Amino acid sequence: MPTHRPLILAHRGFSAKAPENTLAAFEAARLAGADGIELDVQCTKDGEVVVIHDERVDRTTNGRGWVKDFTYQELQGLDAGSWFHNTYRGQTVPRFIAVLQWAKQHRLLLNIELKTGVVQYPRLEQKVVELIRSQQMTERVLLSSFNHYSLRTVKRIDPRFRIGLLYMCGMVEPWLYANRMGASAIQPYYPNVIPELMAGCHANRVMVSPYLIDDIKVMKAMAAMGVDAVITNHPDRMRLVLAEL
Ligand code: G3P
Ligand code: CA
Repeated sequence: MPTHRPLILAHRGFSAKAPENTLAAFEAARLAGADGIELDVQCTKDGEVVVIHDERVDRTTNGRGWVKDFTYQELQGLDAGSWFHNTYRGQTVPRFIAVLQWAKQHRLLLNIELKTGVVQYPRLEQKVVELIRSQQMTERVLLSSFNHYSLRTVKRIDPRFRIGLLYMCGMVEPWLYANRMGASAIQPYYPNVIPELMAGCHANRVMVSPYLIDDIKVMKAMAAMGVDAVITNHPDRMRLVLAEL
């Protein structure tokens, strides 16, 4: 059994319990004992970095359209809670800076995913880096993306920032690629996690932080293989699993 326990990163906050990527979901994750929060960032028409998963607002708010076509003020007028449950009416799409300040206050880690795969947001990487620096949070964040060009941009802006390479499948010896990219972590879809991958990554000082670990059997298997963090919609469940090991 590995000697370290994995960090628990709540995927879009405690999104099984509260509307994803809202302050309510982040606070619920904190109260459930998560070590940190995974969240997604995009940009409004007027250049505000905001926390939302989809490129469109339709699924998680009462509005319609692309995030990039809203000003921040327009976006703030949308309800980001009632789609989940009417007790969350009034939740809004958070500004990224507000989440940084909240996480700093509570000494939580942040795994910030740059959503640059579908819509290209001019200078999003630069803006995110500057906002994190403005809160002296560089040491407490990991920037991740499925778009590895975005992560290379982050490293070019400031090599001190830690990056995590998200991928779904098909990466051979990912620790070699991670080292070449200067990545601290790989973030594979969990079925990729096998002992050979764990050994290769840890021998090369690359952390393994898979997603999406929601099933109890998978939670136990990931912990037994020694992953460094799990990204889960159920931080409460993962805490119970770890407590019983
Ligand atoms: O952190 C992994 C996970 O967030 C990636 O997928 O679609 O939930 O952003 P998605
Ligand atoms: Ca994400």
